[in-house]
Amino acid sequence: MLVIPRSLLKTVRLLLRPTSIADPKRAFEIRSDWEVTRMLSNALFPPDRRKIEEWFFQHESEWIAGTAYRFAIEQAGQMIGIADVDGITEYDGKLGYWLDWASWGNGYAFEAAQELVRFVFTDVGLPTLKAGHAADNPASGRVLTKLGFTQIESTKLFSRPRGETIVQCRYMLASRDYFASSHGGPR
Ligand SMILES: CC(C)(COP(=O)(O)OP(=O)(O)OC[C@H]1O[C@@H](n2cnc3c(N)ncnc32)[C@H](O)[C@@H]1OP(=O)(O)O)[C@@H](O)C(=O)NCCC(=O)NCCS
Repeated sequence: MLVIPRSLLKTVRLLLRPTSIADPKRAFEIRSDWEVTRMLSNALFPPDRRKIEEWFFQHESEWIAGTAYRFAIEQAGQMIGIADVDGITEYDGKLGYWLDWASWGNGYAFEAAQELVRFVFTDVGLPTLKAGHAADNPASGRVLTKLGFTQIESTKLFSRPRGETIVQCRYMLASRDYFASSHGGPR
């Protein structure tokens, strides 16, 4: 099995670095904001510091096993969020991202996710990416459609932080469509 090097990715304004066990403190701060965590269907609110630490501790072994690639997004030397692809099988994986509320509205999620999509299709060679967002999270839907994702269905899903069933919009992007479009063009 080919192990992808745990290397940095760079964009014009951002650094995407493989997460480290020093990241939970900042992640806890970001996830302590209801506006962020209510959009993450499987997250606890308020967040649990120990569980966040345990989650970060798994990242290096997940990376080596090829089941998840998780990056801390840094802007001007500060961690502003996470972008990751997890649940990876030989067929697909699931794209996710969450950013500090203070950094929203600057195009950072799109910029980070665009580089991550390039990484998983070009460097990892994944055939398909899936993604989903709560129906009341149009900003995430906009990020996905700008990346070239297509909405495939809406489905009901239990939101752990909200404690209720919500509607989730699900999306897909195949690498063949990515490479056939301008999204997969030269950097
Ligand atoms: C979703 C999230 C990652 C977006 O981060 P961001 O850095 O603000 O996103 P970007 O600036 O790259 O792009 C947001 C796009 O949505 C648009 N947008 C923002 N609010 C919107 C709204 N209410 N309705 C429609 N579009 C909206 C923006 O105009 C922008 O599109 P544009 O580039 O065409 O102008 C951020 O809001 C976040 O972390 N939310 C909490 C966690 C989360 O939702 N994660 C995703 C789970 S599916």
